[in-house]
Amino acid sequence: MDNQEESLIFPPHFFWGCATSAHQIEGGLNNDWSEWEKSPRRLKDLKNKQRDPLDFISGGAANSFIDNNADIACLKNLNANAYRFSVDWSRIEPEEGRFDLKALNYYKDLVKKLRAQGIEPFVTLWHWPLPLWLRDKGGWENRQIVTYFEKFTEKVVTYLNEEVNFWITLNEPMVYASQSYLTGEWPPNKKNPLALWRVINNLVLAHRASYQILKKIDQNNRVGIAKHNIYFEAANNSLINKVLKNIADWWWNFRFLNKIKNCQDFIGLNYYFHNLVNYGFGKQKIYEKQSDLEWGLHPEGIYHLLKDLKKYNKPVYITENGLADKGDQHRSWYIEEILKNVHRAIGEGVEVKGYLHWSLADNFEWAEGFKPRFGLYEVNFQTYERVARPSAQFYADICKNNRI
Ligand code: FCB
Repeated sequence: MDNQEESLIFPPHFFWGCATSAHQIEGGLNNDWSEWEKSPRRLKDLKNKQRDPLDFISGGAANSFIDNNADIACLKNLNANAYRFSVDWSRIEPEEGRFDLKALNYYKDLVKKLRAQGIEPFVTLWHWPLPLWLRDKGGWENRQIVTYFEKFTEKVVTYLNEEVNFWITLNEPMVYASQSYLTGEWPPNKKNPLALWRVINNLVLAHRASYQILKKIDQNNRVGIAKHNIYFEAANNSLINKVLKNIADWWWNFRFLNKIKNCQDFIGLNYYFHNLVNYGFGKQKIYEKQSDLEWGLHPEGIYHLLKDLKKYNKPVYITENGLADKGDQHRSWYIEEILKNVHRAIGEGVEVKGYLHWSLADNFEWAEGFKPRFGLYEVNFQTYERVARPSAQFYADICKNNRI
């Protein structure tokens, strides 16, 4: 870190790649999210904000279901040796207990294509949307979902196991639970702390059940979750700020991981946020650089989070990290600074084994719609053509050389 000229080499067999999720890239989905996007309540809300609803309906997304070769070509150009994507539950199990072979074959074909290119698949089983029939049963509030998720896991894993080693059961359970059951911003738009509590518990149970099935089917499966952690930093030495920081760390960063401690082979870390704790949460400092979504860019945060994960004594994969940056002004800088901090953590004994950038190509950013551009590749949403942003070449060199 001191000598900026010297290149930093990463450990052998390091995984370099990108992350995506089904709802954000595939298109043509029919689940609780796609219904919500078009619901009268949502459309009214967008109208009040004078937003064009078409920017907020996932629709064809990035067209990846129709043509995943475009994504694979981008991964190839990046010299990636890993790719994280998710399967969509509503596509695979459109009705309770009816598993769609066409959908399962689509994902099987995708992993085969990845393998043929020497790209290791990291498969996420659940990245937020739910099938409509399951939503109608109460979704994550209903304890029965644990059994449904277990059966779903069994089906998918039986199908894909031959080609897949790395499994991520859940994406960012705390983010989902909070946005959907506390702030009410995401479907099912509840603001109910009791429901939040129930949902978190059911997510914990679902992970554990899914883990057991994955291991039963194949002991060699590597299983974890993608955990969104925030770097909470006490603004000063005041006792109150330190206590508040510890509470935030416990609630947001560690509690879920502690609950699944004995049921994970690795930790997936998603890093986006730094939060200065100053007699309260969410007091942002002024950042030198920020993303198009005005998320302050604070690359050092990942170093602290990685050090904090050391206590779990498990390998860590960075399963997401990135920024909305349409003009590609900060992306290369951000990747480089993040990786310097990752390297520093590795030097201090944290077993980091991969970095998956969010995201491969522009896609549908949930409630924020199509405007935020997270891609190393720019997507033309009329033609679905992918064009490399300059940072794609920057990242491709890193992937190729295993160094920055
Ligand atoms: C993460 C989500 C991912 C993407 C990025 C920007 O919280 O897991 O789907 O939206 O944020």
